[in-house]
Amino acid sequence: MSLEFLPQLLQDYNPNSNFGSGSGLVFIPGRDQGQNFPPLASSSSGISSGVIAGISVAGVAGALFLAACIYVGFYRRKKVVEGSFLHEAADDNAIKHRHGPGSNSEKTSESGPLIGGVSPGLTGITVDKSVEFSLEELSKATNDFSIANKIGQGGFGAVYYAELRGEKAAIKKMDMQATKEFLAELKVLTHVHHLNLVRLIGYCVEGSLFLVYEFIENGNLNQHLRGSGRDPLPWSSRVQIALDSARGLEYIHEHTVPVYIHRDIKSANILIDKNFRAKVADFGLTKLTEVGSSSLHTRLVGTFGYMPPEYAQYGDVSSKTDVYAFGVVLYELISAKEAIVKTNEVVTESKGLVSLFEGVLSQPDPRENLQKLVDPRLDDNYSIDSVLKLAHLAKACTQENPQLRPSMRSIVVALMTLSSSTDDWDVGSFYKNQDLVNLMSGR
Ligand SMILES: Nc1ncnc2c1ncn2[C@@H]1O[C@H](COP(=O)(O)OP(=O)(O)O)[C@@H](O)[C@H]1O
Ligand SMILES: [Mg+2]
Repeated sequence: MSLEFLPQLLQDYNPNSNFGSGSGLVFIPGRDQGQNFPPLASSSSGISSGVIAGISVAGVAGALFLAACIYVGFYRRKKVVEGSFLHEAADDNAIKHRHGPGSNSEKTSESGPLIGGVSPGLTGITVDKSVEFSLEELSKATNDFSIANKIGQGGFGAVYYAELRGEKAAIKKMDMQATKEFLAELKVLTHVHHLNLVRLIGYCVEGSLFLVYEFIENGNLNQHLRGSGRDPLPWSSRVQIALDSARGLEYIHEHTVPVYIHRDIKSANILIDKNFRAKVADFGLTKLTEVGSSSLHTRLVGTFGYMPPEYAQYGDVSSKTDVYAFGVVLYELISAKEAIVKTNEVVTESKGLVSLFEGVLSQPDPRENLQKLVDPRLDDNYSIDSVLKLAHLAKACTQENPQLRPSMRSIVVALMTLSSSTDDWDVGSFYKNQDLVNLMSGR
């Protein structure tokens, strides 16, 4: 049957429809097995009133069902946020999906829900996937921010242990002056999720600025290396902690969009969990880097002893700023000394850990003098070859020329090799950097 019949056919099957109006319900007949259209119903009024009544009842029931589904879905989502925020925050599959490499979540975020009415600086940021808490709830969770609950003090705020909705958390309380740092941290941690980065659960902006994190049981690396009342970290844990922190940094340097520079890497900002695995924390000074730009100029912030020369002198910031600071952390892991060492008690004379180690590593056979720099709490429970390799890696990270410093990706590979086997160290083909090639091949 040709298609010219179609308009007439439709008119025949829909005697009450006005096809000129361009709207309304039209009955379209199907063909039977013999490719013919079924005969028209005997009633000249088209579809019987019984059929119309049936369709109407079904339509109303369908609409009610749809409305019920939407309501239940909405209610359940609300419940998840209110009920078990830790699990919601911990389920980062969806986040990884949205914020993985190539995502432009950062760009779209500016149009999301706003924190409003608190401070002029606190507008224009999305806080998706983190929960807003009330001050009342945070006060209750920390015994009114009691001294007994205080677990940390940094440059920008005090950190308190909290029991929040039945789960352990850490709450950083910052005053309103720290808006910039608060926003930097909120922004990075709501967008970047990785096993080796501390996880943000939520925030609060009543009276002060609060950030709520997952609680990391074992304090920070600085406390482990130099604090009293803790067992010395075994050598293998130190290498593992170095590798974990390197992985966290590699992630923000290379796998997020945009990429970030932490700018305050130091042992006090590396947290240790109950399994002695490390997580990088404190993203208050984190800077965004535009893709393609190799360095940024900025106000000098950070911590003495960890700043590379190009940053301290010219304010040049790049991912190699973090690499340098990471190198200093490696020297700390070996020696348990502070980044700046007092060399003379009488006259104030200080020396950086970098130059202290460089003096020793430049000797023809540094083993003996290197041994003197190793944390005495390790006793003899370490391999001097492994220490030497870590020290050479630290030296490569703290070179004066930032371009010669290895990338965090190369550092991760080097540390993986060191942690799995100290003998199989010849992975020079991975690297462009000559110093690192020498280091890998034991030269
Ligand atoms: N999630 C956490 N779990 C346990 N302790 C933490 C946590 N976050 C921070 N701390 C403790 O508080 C200290 C200060 O936190 P940090 O985020 O570095 O703040 P600041 O910006 O003031 O330096 C850390 O060195 C650590 O000892
Ligand atoms: Mg800190």
